[in-house]
Amino acid sequence: MKRILAGILIAGLGVTPAWAQKSEGLALTPQMGWNSWNKFACNIDEKLIRETADAMVKLGLKEAGYQYINIDDCWHGARDANGEMHPDPQRFPSGMKALADYVHARGLKLGIYSDVGDTTCGHRPGSRGHEYQDARTYAAWGIDYIKVDWCDSKGLNAVGAYQTFSDAIRASKRPMLLSICEWGENKPWEWAASSGHSWRTTGDIYPCWDCEMSHGSWSALGIMRILDKQAGLRKYSGPGRWNDMDMLEVGMGMTEDEDRAHFSIWAMLDSPLILGNDLRTMPAPVRKIVGNRDVIAINQDPLGVQALRFYNQGQVELWAKPLANDEWAFMILNRGEAPLSYRYDWQHTIGDDLSKREVDFKKATYRWTDAWSGKTGDTGKRLEVTVPAHGVVLLRLKKS
Ligand code: GLA
Repeated sequence: MKRILAGILIAGLGVTPAWAQKSEGLALTPQMGWNSWNKFACNIDEKLIRETADAMVKLGLKEAGYQYINIDDCWHGARDANGEMHPDPQRFPSGMKALADYVHARGLKLGIYSDVGDTTCGHRPGSRGHEYQDARTYAAWGIDYIKVDWCDSKGLNAVGAYQTFSDAIRASKRPMLLSICEWGENKPWEWAASSGHSWRTTGDIYPCWDCEMSHGSWSALGIMRILDKQAGLRKYSGPGRWNDMDMLEVGMGMTEDEDRAHFSIWAMLDSPLILGNDLRTMPAPVRKIVGNRDVIAINQDPLGVQALRFYNQGQVELWAKPLANDEWAFMILNRGEAPLSYRYDWQHTIGDDLSKREVDFKKATYRWTDAWSGKTGDTGKRLEVTVPAHGVVLLRLKKS
């Protein structure tokens, strides 16, 4: 009875009960970092993690905003007789606490991976039935970020399973970002904002422009396929609750133009920017792409409003993203196989019902800067650009 009364009282005050809150104040802009999966899959160890943290600092990427070093699947050893989880003793002989200390000493944060089911996608022990225990363990290790997968989840209710994990994190008393990796199967955008900070909207990414790579029961998706699955989701995104389009494939085999487009699209749609390549051997052109501060600033804009597509015809799409201080980002996407000479008269009024922002270029002139070429101009003159095949032109607009 007391419990019921307390519940009514809390509800009456409009306060969310403590056990139903995620760690607040995290991911107010989309999280940025690196994750081991796309490049290394299960071939990971503590040396790789340490070297990646060093590279993140040395390459200036920490300065550019990247913060999390995330260990994905296969770090696991076994549970002991008390059910406590331990890392693989061969691959992580110094233990996770030592690794977290190493990463923290460089001003970065450490992420780890689990699964709401009995086993992870890589067939390692999952957290089902051990959520509170695992969250406590991660907290004791000094973990800052947990990606929680959806493999082996038969019979689980997604909403409840992720809420349980969120509650377990809260009970551990250490703020940890919860990255929900449920692949969009149960429309996480409709419910995951109360438990996590981001949710995957699709199955796994694949480094190609517009292909599907079949893995038998499921397919990994190219950049355009993932983009097209974001239709209708922008209203769910905002500070502390992001649509996650999966980890980046920049530097993983696509062309430079495709990489630039991929990075621009993820920035425009406020997806977390989690690098997926080998930072230790990153060629200069790739570093230039992922280190582009103008593009990162569009993703990290404090307004946190996902871009909207306001025009599409054939292979061309026009996207706009309202930014703080009445600025806008403007992207021309060429999905086609050939470069495109594109002219734009700035005749559209771009209205966004979601953010209640509108721009009418007939009434106001904006100065633009091209985030990739550095060229400048203004909306008083017709824009004439060449958009590369499988590429973008990305402009930042500021009222003059
Ligand atoms: C799933 C996830 C991936 C990755 C792997 C690890 O496929 O969607 O991002 O974490 O599992 O096994």
